[in-house]
This record gives sequence, structure tokens and C-alpha cells, in this order.
Amino acid sequence: MTAPQETPAHEPTSPGRAPLRVALLGCGVVGSEVARLLTVQAADLAARVGAPLELVGVAVRDVAADRGPFVDRSLLTADAEGLVARADVVIEVMGGIEPARSLLLRAIAHGAAVVTANKALLAQDGPTLYAAADSAGVDLYFEAAVAGAIPIVRPIRESLAGDRVQRVLGIVNGTTNFVLDRMTSEGMDLDQAVKEAQSLGYAEADPSADVDGDDAAAKAAILASLAFHTRVALSDVYREGIGAVTATDVEWAARSGYTIKLLAVAERTDAGVQVRVHPSLVPLDHPLAGVRGAFNAVFVEADAAGELMFYGRGAGGTPTASAVLGDVVSAARHRVLGGRGPVESSYAKLPVLPASAARTRYQLRLDVVDRPGVLAQVATVLSTHEVSIEAVQQSPAVPGTPDGTAHLVITTHRSVESALAATVVAVSKLDAVRRVVSVLRVEGA
Ligand code: NDP
Ligand code: HSE
Repeated sequence: MTAPQETPAHEPTSPGRAPLRVALLGCGVVGSEVARLLTVQAADLAARVGAPLELVGVAVRDVAADRGPFVDRSLLTADAEGLVARADVVIEVMGGIEPARSLLLRAIAHGAAVVTANKALLAQDGPTLYAAADSAGVDLYFEAAVAGAIPIVRPIRESLAGDRVQRVLGIVNGTTNFVLDRMTSEGMDLDQAVKEAQSLGYAEADPSADVDGDDAAAKAAILASLAFHTRVALSDVYREGIGAVTATDVEWAARSGYTIKLLAVAERTDAGVQVRVHPSLVPLDHPLAGVRGAFNAVFVEADAAGELMFYGRGAGGTPTASAVLGDVVSAARHRVLGGRGPVESSYAKLPVLPASAARTRYQLRLDVVDRPGVLAQVATVLSTHEVSIEAVQQSPAVPGTPDGTAHLVITTHRSVESALAATVVAVSKLDAVRRVVSVLRVEGA
């Protein structure tokens, strides 16, 4: 093996205990960085764990591809099944549902602790993995699955275990935050900003999982399950991506004191929990409004702790590997010292409510006929549906709209989503309403 380019600054005392065998499933963006950190930080990791961590194999599809100086070629294998059966700790960073799920279940059945960054798998089938880990008495860790390097799974699962979380608001997808930020700061349209995100390596060639909100929805399901001690499945999460957000929406947001963010919102109500992902107007003085570029942040509101915000890099090989390695150290320490990490906590079994039950504020933008009485007609429709108006702005028509058009911007008080949806249908039927230009939810106010 080629000598690593980076070496630790000092040599901590090497523990005398037999090495713990670590298997790495996947050696792509994240896996290659996990392998590098396992090598260059070997001495420190051994000291922190109480035993050396020995990488015993790296499962990949293409065993012939070069994996750089930190992966001994002799460790590469296409036999992932065989590999997981001879490890104490299995790190899964291959992604996708299968074979990742079967490999993790096999690792657990063989008594290995498992660490995964796979949000898609956890959101789709987390309970199966939890149950298997519980009955085998092994650890299942997944800090990297939500918001990359940001410690958020451990704080919610452990640090806030004595508190009562009311709401979690998260910018948990860096690509869409980058895109919206470029639209805001540079006046770009969505396509231009997505192309720039692709050229910088944030967005995939097919950006749909990010743009459509699927990636954020998986993370929202995981966060909500942890925060409310209730199983929240991916299918429980209402999702709307940023595909319909226009440069004009972004401009109007700024004019009315907001910025647009794709938010994962998980909240407790008297009736249960409600989880959704959608573009949101966030007041400019809210801490989430200042989260720029591809950064992530999670804002938590808890009864006793109050408001907390966790901020940092939500993706990228090295930041994500940091979270993976933290989990590896925790799981490995348990191997050495005994004990186990937290198991699934779903005792609360709160009802998971549909999107129609959400209660939030909204901003509607309408093109209307500019004549006396139109505002009163619109206001009457809102009041009939028990949607209370907080503020109204009127501006001259946007260029391109027919003569005699006025632009109305209505911000509501907190209303039930189903009432707002019915309001929008009724408003759009008024003769005086030429077009409902946009409806955006307001969060964090
Ligand atoms: P990559 O596509 O870069 O790497 C995937 C690796 O897994 C590759 O080495 C690939 O092998 C290997 N692999 C895939 N399928 C198989 C298979 N069937 N058998 C054997 N090996 C396989 O993915 P990432 O590193 O970006 O992501 C890994 C995981 O981490 C995903 O779950 C992702 O959601 C999560 N994650 C990623 C983040 C990021 O910033 N990239 C951030 C947070 C989480 P080969 O190289 O031979 O093709
Ligand atoms: N594609 C994700 C993002 C990173 O843009 O945040 C992995 O979850």
C-alpha cells in the first residue's frame, strides 16, 4: 500500500487490545473519505476507542477502479455478503435500498454494530433495522443520514431525551438551499441556478431527488420520528419541491421581508404530529434566513431548552465522513467497554396527521381587476373560509399583464391548510381574479 500523505501530529499510546474489525460497504464520495480518516487518524481513533480499528475489507461494484492512496487494493471486494460476516463494525455508505438493507440485516444477524448514512433506507424501512438491531443487541447509528456533518441525530435522540420537542424546522438539503440562495442574491431563474449547482458538484446530473424535495422528505421523516418518539414513514411526509418557485416569487419575498427556503417542518399539535417539506417564506430576522449557499441548519423548539439551532455542512465526502466516524467510535467503544447506544423510541405513538391538518400562515399573490370593491370580494371569500388576513399589499401590475390589472399580496394569520386550499379555489373562481400567481406558506414567524 502507498504510504499515506497525511500522518497524525503525535502518536497516542496504542492500546494493547485486539483490533476491532471494520467493514466498509461503498467507497465513493463518502466511503473514500471514511477510509482516509480511518488511516490518517488511526492512532487517535485507537486511543479514543480503547482498541485499534482495522479495516478488513471494502465492498464496491468495480474492484478494478483506483480508490486512491488510503485504500489498500487487496481490501477491495465484490463479495459484500462475505465481508459483513467477518466484521465487528459495518459501515454502510453505498446508498440505495437493496442490497444495502439485506447487507445491514446480515451484519446485524452476525452480531456486528452498524453505522449507516443511508437516509433513503432509514426513512423507508428504519423500523425493520431497529427491530433487528434490538433483538441482536447491537448498535445502529446514523448521524450522517441527516444534515451530513451536523450533529442533530444525537442531540435529538440523546441530549433532548429529557425535554419535549414541539417543532423542528430544517434546511436539510444543501443543493436546493444553494439554488434558492443564488436566485435570491443574483436574481437567477431556477434553471440557471440548478445548472450552476450541477457545475459545482452540488446537484446530480438528474437533480430531481433534491429539487422535488424527496431527499429532504427522507430526512424529515427521520427527524420527526426521533423528535416525537413516533414512527413517521416517508409516505407520511407531505412534499412539494422548489420546481415551481420563480424569480418573481423570490423578488416578492424580499419585498415583503422574507426569504424563500425549502424547509422540512415537523411539528406537534394537540391532535398529533404533522410533517411536511415545502418552499417557505422565512422572515429575514429568523436565524434560518441567514443560512446561505449549500449549508444546512436545523432549528429546534423544545419546551425546556427553548430554541436551538444546529448549523454546518450537510453534504460532501469529508464532512459526512466526520459524522460517520463519530458513530464508529461510539459503536466501537461499546464493543470495548460494554453497553449499547440508544434503541428506537416510538412509545408515544402519536397520530400522524395529513397535510390538510397543518396550521400555518400563508402568502397569496393574485392578479386582480383593478376596480372598486375587488379587495372586499376577495376578503369576503377569505373570511367565509375562516382565513384571517394579517396584511395586504397592492402594487401596480407586473409588466406583461393586461391593462387594468392590480397585484394583491395577502398574508394570512395561522390557518388550517384545508381551509386555505378551499379559499384558493373559491378566490380563483371570482370574475375579478385574473390569476392566483402563487401561494406560499410562511414559517418561523
Ligand atoms: P457514491 O455513489 O459516491 O458511492 C457509492 C459507493 O457504493 C460506490 O463505491 C459504489 O461502488 C458502492 N456500491 C453501490 N452499490 C453497490 C453494490 N450493489 N455493491 C457493492 N458496492 C456498491 O455515494 P455517496 O458516497 O455519495 O453516498 C453514500 C451514502 O451516503 C448514501 O446513502 C448517501 O445518501 C449518503 N450521504 C451522502 C452524502 C454526500 O454528500 N455524498 C451526504 C450524506 C449522506 P463503485 O464505486 O464500484 O460504483
Ligand atoms: N443531495 C443532498 C444535498 C446531500 O444536496 O443536501 C445528501 O443528502
